[in-house]
Amino acid sequence: MALWSGRFSEGVDEFTQRFGASLPVDKRMYAQDIAGSRAHAAMLAAQSIISEEDAKAIDEGLASILASIEAGEFTFDINDEDIHMAIESELTRRIGSAGARLHTGRSRNDQVATDTRLYMKQRAQDLMRANLALREVLLDQAEANFGVILPGYTHMQHAQPVLFSHHLLAYNWMLARDYVRLQAACDAADACPLGAAALAGTTYPLDRFATASQLGFDRVIPNSLDAVSDRDFLLDLVYACSVSSIHLSRLCEEIVLWSTVEFSFITLSDSFSTGSSIMPQKKNPDFAELIRGKTGRVVGDLMALLMTLKSLPLAYNKDLQEDKEGAMDAVDTLEACYQCAAGMISTWTVNRDSMAAQATGGFLAATDVADYLAKKGMPFRQAHEIVGSLVKLCVERGCDLPDLTLADFQEKTPLFEADIQQALNIEAITAARTTYGGTGHEAVKVQLEEARTQWGSQHDLLKHS
Ligand code: ARG
Repeated sequence: MALWSGRFSEGVDEFTQRFGASLPVDKRMYAQDIAGSRAHAAMLAAQSIISEEDAKAIDEGLASILASIEAGEFTFDINDEDIHMAIESELTRRIGSAGARLHTGRSRNDQVATDTRLYMKQRAQDLMRANLALREVLLDQAEANFGVILPGYTHMQHAQPVLFSHHLLAYNWMLARDYVRLQAACDAADACPLGAAALAGTTYPLDRFATASQLGFDRVIPNSLDAVSDRDFLLDLVYACSVSSIHLSRLCEEIVLWSTVEFSFITLSDSFSTGSSIMPQKKNPDFAELIRGKTGRVVGDLMALLMTLKSLPLAYNKDLQEDKEGAMDAVDTLEACYQCAAGMISTWTVNRDSMAAQATGGFLAATDVADYLAKKGMPFRQAHEIVGSLVKLCVERGCDLPDLTLADFQEKTPLFEADIQQALNIEAITAARTTYGGTGHEAVKVQLEEARTQWGSQHDLLKHS
C-alpha cells in the first residue's frame, strides 16, 4: 500500500511502479537516510512535537534497520518507490504507530535533498583520497626517475628536452587543481535542506539548526524553495569529475603512445596489460585506453544532469529523481579510474635509454644553439635564421647538429667557437632552464618540494575532516 493511499482507490501497475521507482539507485543512501531520520526524530522530541518515548522507539527501530541492511538481511521491495519509503514503512512494521509519527513536519523532498548532500559529501571525500593516492604515485615516480630526459613536444614534434619528472609533475598540478574543485563541490553540498518540508517550510516549531548541526552540516539553506530544488552541488561535483577525467584521458593517451614499439618510453607491467586472442605477440595498454574511454561517460553524466535541470520550475519536480544515477556513476567511474591509473603507473618500467635516444636526436638543441649566438650579441631573429639553415644542412646530409664540424658552424658565422659542442649537450641544455617552473634540474627539485608540501597539507586536512 502506498504511503499516499488515502487519496487513491487504485494503485499503479507493476511496470509503472518500476518506471517510477528510484529504489535501485537510491538504496545506496540508506545510511544517510537513517541518519537524517534519527536527527529529525530527536529534534521533534526536543521541540515537544513528538513524545520522548516515540523518539526513543524511532531511534531504536532505525538503528535495528541499519543493522539489518548492513548484515545483508534487509529485502528491498520495489513496491517501496524509494529508500525513504522503504525505511519508513519497515520502521512502522517494526515499531508500530510511533514509526508513523516520524514524517511529521517533513517531506521526501527535503529528505532526498538531505540524503543526497550527505552522501555526496562523503563521496567527494572518497574521491579526494583517491586523488591524493594517485598524486603520491606520480610524485614518487618523479623522484625515482629524477634526471631521466625525454623530448618535450609541441604539435607532437620534437621541441626541447625536458626532465621526465617535470613531465609527470605537470599532471600532478592538473590533479591538484582537480582536488581543489572536488573540495569546493564538497563544500557546496555542505548545506542542510532539512526542515524545508515539501517546499514552504512547516507549521511545526522545527529547529532546523539543530538537525543541521547534528548531521554535521556547515550551514542551513535559507530558502525552503531553493532547499528542495537546488542541485547545483551535484553539477559542481560532476563537473569536477569531468575535468579530472579529461586530465586522466590526456595522461592515458601519453601512456598509450609511450608504450608503443615506436616510442618504447615505458613498459607496462603484465598486470596492467592484456594480450590478444589471435595475435600472440600483443601486449595491449587496455587499462590506459579504458580510462581514456571512460571520460566520455563522465562528461555524458554532466551533460545529462545539466539537461535534467534546464527549465525546471520551482520547487520539487519528479525530474529531479534523475539526478542521482548519473552523478553516482560519474563519482564511481572517476574513483575507479584514479585507482587503476595509480596501479598502472606504480608498476610500469621507465625505459630511460629509449627516452635518452630520442632526446639526443631530432634537433632538440636548436633553440639553445640560437641562444648561444644571441648571447654573443647577435640579434635572436638572425640567430634563429642561421640555426634554421644548419638544421636544413643536417637534413640534407641525413645527420644531426652534433655531427657537423666546427668548420660547418663557422661557415655560417665566426661567432661559433670550439665550445659549440658543449652547447649541444642535451643534459646541460636541460639543466640550464633554471627559471622558476622550468625543466632545469634545480628548478624541478624546487617544484617537487612544493608539490610534496601541498600534498602533505591536503592529506593532513582531509584526515581530520
Ligand atoms: N525518489 C524521489 C527522488 O529521488 C524522492 C522525492 C520524491 N518526492 C515526491 N514528492 N515525489 O527525487
